[in-house]
Amino acid sequence: MPKVRQKLFHAISLLAVFSMALAACAPAATATQAPQAGPKKLEIFSWWTNGGEATGLNKMFDIYKAKNADVEIVNATVAGGAGTNAKTVLKTRLQGGQPPDSWQVHAGKELTSYVDAGQMEPLTQFFKDQGFDKVMPKLLLDQITYKGEIWSVPVNVHRSNILWYNKKVFADNGLTPPKTFDDFFTVAEALKAKGLTPLAVGGADKFETPHLFESVLLGTFGPADYAKLFQPGANWGDPRVDQAVETLNKMLGYSNSDRSALGWAAAMQLMLEGKAGMTIMGDWAHGYALSKGLKPDVDYGWAAAPGNDGVFMWLSDSFGLAKGAPNPEQARAWLAVCGSKDGQDAFNPAKGSIPARTDADKSLYDVYLQYSIDAFGKETLAPSIVHGAAAPEAYMLAYGNALNVFSSDLDAKTLKQALIDSVKEIK
Ligand code: GAL
Repeated sequence: MPKVRQKLFHAISLLAVFSMALAACAPAATATQAPQAGPKKLEIFSWWTNGGEATGLNKMFDIYKAKNADVEIVNATVAGGAGTNAKTVLKTRLQGGQPPDSWQVHAGKELTSYVDAGQMEPLTQFFKDQGFDKVMPKLLLDQITYKGEIWSVPVNVHRSNILWYNKKVFADNGLTPPKTFDDFFTVAEALKAKGLTPLAVGGADKFETPHLFESVLLGTFGPADYAKLFQPGANWGDPRVDQAVETLNKMLGYSNSDRSALGWAAAMQLMLEGKAGMTIMGDWAHGYALSKGLKPDVDYGWAAAPGNDGVFMWLSDSFGLAKGAPNPEQARAWLAVCGSKDGQDAFNPAKGSIPARTDADKSLYDVYLQYSIDAFGKETLAPSIVHGAAAPEAYMLAYGNALNVFSSDLDAKTLKQALIDSVKEIK
């Protein structure tokens, strides 16, 4: 054997002996994983990153930490309103068998897609043990019950169809919040004449125009016929769809042209700063304004979106338990906070939503939220499309894509056809 080769052979043999010796010293092969070192963990997944959203979430975390000091919370957020980005990330994680312990999910049809995919644990017994079934309204219980089980714990009720307006701009120009679509266009003309953007609309979060359109649909169809749009085989060829698209087109004509560059919060900000007169957004926008130190009924006012008077378009955020959750015990303790009176009364006043529980301490809620609690109790209810209440996730995605395309190309014919095609996703 040549010298170099001989040396190499010698070195390899030495290495082999050394690694065998190492293996012999190592503890017996571990059939089961040794318990993880370090603190106990809890991973919560959501898209709550904006002012108001993040504040509310942290308030619930504070309550959790006070009760579970030994648990480290991993706050897994993915920015992007309405979860447009978060849901994609979540899907990849779930398909890859890497679920967070608990994730934000809208009550209603959105929830059913995760259940159908076998990604959630039923919570029926837990819900009863905690007594949550005694303190939540039937509307919500129905939305979280599917195939005979309860699947998530609602933390709130949000309202999607609110028109927010700048009080000073309206007062300076002698304007009152519009009730009908015609009123809206009169007010919009007046604001435009003053060189202001009448309606601030976002687009960067990829849900803002779809969001605006759901209130236009509701205002055009009325609550009874709007509800029929989400039944299998619904008739989206109805001429009222064309009418709604025309109204939306006209509204967008009064909005900022940089829609696609602004998220919902930036659009709200334009209105709060008085650069725009109005914006139409869910009441998480109220939470955002609060986080900026602004006051409802002083700095900004609200009314139902045009044509939506007397109808509360609702949605509800909830949290579930992942099948195969890495930390199920910690996750259950989290869900106990989500459904508790303390948890809800800390979270909702900052989030801009009303509690899912009927026994909340109303004195903790501001003038807008008191209005909303009252309205939820007496107005006609309609489910939101974009925020998971009305239709399955696949439909919401098809509807959302169609409206986002329209926001840039304003092609009514293509939109109508896409809406008709999307009906196959309503199940
Ligand atoms: C909604 C969600 C709200 C709020 C909003 C904007 O889908 O239900 O809680 O977070 O998106 O991000």
